[in-house]
Amino acid sequence: MDQLRIIGGRRLKGSIEISGAKNAALPALAATLLTADEVRLGRIPSVRDIRTMAGLLESIGASVVRENGGYRIQAAAISESGAPYERVKTMRASSLVLGPLVARTGRARVSLPGGCAIGARPIDIHLLGLQTLGAEVRQEAGYIEAVATEGLRGARFTFPKITVTGTEDLMMAAALAKGETMLDNAAREPEVADLAEMLTKMGARIEGAGTSTLRIEGVERLHGCEHAIIPDRIETGTYLIAGALAADELELRGVETDHLGALLDKLAQAGVDVASEGDRLIVRGGRPLMAVDVTTEEHPGFPTDMQAQWMALMLTAQGSAHVTETIFENRFMHVAELGRMGAKIELNGNQATIRGGRPLTGARVMASDLRASACLVLAALAAEGETVIERVYHLDRGYENLDGKLAAVGASIERIV
Ligand code: EPZ
Repeated sequence: MDQLRIIGGRRLKGSIEISGAKNAALPALAATLLTADEVRLGRIPSVRDIRTMAGLLESIGASVVRENGGYRIQAAAISESGAPYERVKTMRASSLVLGPLVARTGRARVSLPGGCAIGARPIDIHLLGLQTLGAEVRQEAGYIEAVATEGLRGARFTFPKITVTGTEDLMMAAALAKGETMLDNAAREPEVADLAEMLTKMGARIEGAGTSTLRIEGVERLHGCEHAIIPDRIETGTYLIAGALAADELELRGVETDHLGALLDKLAQAGVDVASEGDRLIVRGGRPLMAVDVTTEEHPGFPTDMQAQWMALMLTAQGSAHVTETIFENRFMHVAELGRMGAKIELNGNQATIRGGRPLTGARVMASDLRASACLVLAALAAEGETVIERVYHLDRGYENLDGKLAAVGASIERIV
């Protein structure tokens, strides 16, 4: 199993190109099932979750060609109406094919995603929404069957809880439903807005993307399109914190600054020197940092996907910082591993208190989930001595060539196969 070996203390200097957003690419790939035409997607990151989704689309009958840093996909005919357990157990975002399959073929059979390290992560709201649009949903032997033989009908649905992929799933389903759908309390993440933009290019009629109320006028069919997805705001945030921890000067290229509001505000409060120039951000480390509290919230609040990385930054700040996780029930798996590196962090329910300013020493640690892995890399960059991170396959799910990108700007980081 791959490991990463990092020697801390190196000063980073240079420039990193930000990749396309994994969490925009996954719904975009699923959306290709909504048309029989060819769809060309650009700036798709080469990460494991994307390869998993591409494999799932092929198993459903789509032709999938990786080219020019993106995909050319055509689901001319749907041969298999679902996602088997073997695929879904490795990536719960496979549930994103539910809405498109029911909308396109009138039927979907998708394995219920298991939980994952950060929480139970049910898809009950996805299913409630599909039922509201007229699908009959039943569960048997760990699979969800959703059937709408007469097609889906537009309806009004209020999300009982804000859900990102739930919003994406239902937006895709509503695009081909008969009549108008209103989705209230929808997710406002940039990835949702990016999907709406792609669907609109395919002929969908969607208003309110990026707000909590979406109005979708269903159409008979959707056609192909070309779409380049947005840059990855979480990858950007991860490298901003790497820069704050260990850089003389680090430039990030191909950034969408508008997607980073809450994080940039918190970095400024902590005293991190970040300059913005068009689609580039320049971060300079070396300044003493202030401890700053964060509470994770749905967009445009502070993203839960940056919570672990923020904790790594606060390890080097003066004073104590509170990190409160409100989205997932078990997203502090990185805390125990950080403790092995000398961190002093107290947990009290969904709040962690980080006692900053203590020396960090390299250690052997274990990754537990995607963003916890990134947190351990960041802490290792700031630690004294050698850190070996095990189970880095978690990292490879969502970061394109992270070790290569960091090594290219001076980090001592190597992959041990
Ligand atoms: C998306 O997951 C992201 N994944 C996650 O990123 C991200 O952490 C999360 O949104 C929150 O921003 C993708 O976009 C592929 P949710 P998603 O549905 O859609 C509960 C990463 O690190 N809920 O917004 O699965 C759920 O349990 C990953 O890149 C229900 O109860 O998250 C959670 O507590 C991790 N029932 C809350 O809502 C449902 O039917 C928010 O989950 C759906 C969700």
